[in-house]
Amino acid sequence: MSDDTTSVEPAASCRELGEWLVRTEDHYGGFHKGIPRKTVSPLDPRSPEELERGGMIGGDRMSVHGYAPSYAEHLAPFVRSGRRIVLVEAGILRGTGLALWSELFPGGRVIGLDIDLSHVRENLPALKARGAFPGGDPELHEYDQLIDETEKLRRLLGGDRIDVYVDDGLHSEASILRSFASIQPFLAKRCVCFVEDNAQVWWLLQERYPQYTVLRRGELTVLVPSPWWLRWKRRVGKILRRTLGRSFA
Ligand SMILES: C[S@@+](CC[C@H](N)C(=O)[O-])C[C@H]1O[C@@H](n2cnc3c(N)ncnc32)[C@H](O)[C@@H]1O
Repeated sequence: MSDDTTSVEPAASCRELGEWLVRTEDHYGGFHKGIPRKTVSPLDPRSPEELERGGMIGGDRMSVHGYAPSYAEHLAPFVRSGRRIVLVEAGILRGTGLALWSELFPGGRVIGLDIDLSHVRENLPALKARGAFPGGDPELHEYDQLIDETEKLRRLLGGDRIDVYVDDGLHSEASILRSFASIQPFLAKRCVCFVEDNAQVWWLLQERYPQYTVLRRGELTVLVPSPWWLRWKRRVGKILRRTLGRSFA
């Protein structure tokens, strides 16, 4: 791998984009593990022993988890559009993802959220030495996935809508659902959301948010807005289930 990444061509095929995502994640540090947990949410359910154990892992979405083809498939229309993309990543650790997104969407707005920003702050000089963030430091905000952060998001977005949301934070059902509830009011009409490393949460998201189509890709869940007719069909189905349920009760 050379010291410079080449920017991705807007006309790149999904396969080329997937390869670029793998290469660029690697360029910005790739897989790392054993990062100590210094700050956690006051609502984090893990015991002190569990928090001490293992450490955190990052830079693993594209190659280790193999999510690159799904990311490429769903991000390609945003890359091709040439629009100014607003991307929010919750759970950023050392900022490998932020560096990747900033390069994928030059001129876009990339916002990093985390309960502990110390790791990304320590790693920023190394990322910049590798060519990340030529337009200035990324936006970083303290954020707890286990509480309602709607008002904080409203303030920091300042009227912008989120085109791409990535959840790579705590990975528990409670954190994913709480965080999605905070983010959802600010999602753009045409958006895509990626929820990583939880194979079970997809059906809860589908049940609570029928306006999105929830796609299962192993441990990766992808949400895209449902077409109007599907939203309608789901609404009618819900009413019918309720009415029939009542008449048979
Ligand atoms: C798997 S790492 C993120 C890896 C990163 N996305 C990357 O691409 O390298 C998980 C991150 O979630 C953060 N986190 C843990 N609990 C959180 C919470 N309650 N709210 C927000 N972030 C949290 C951790 O501090 C850590 O930085």
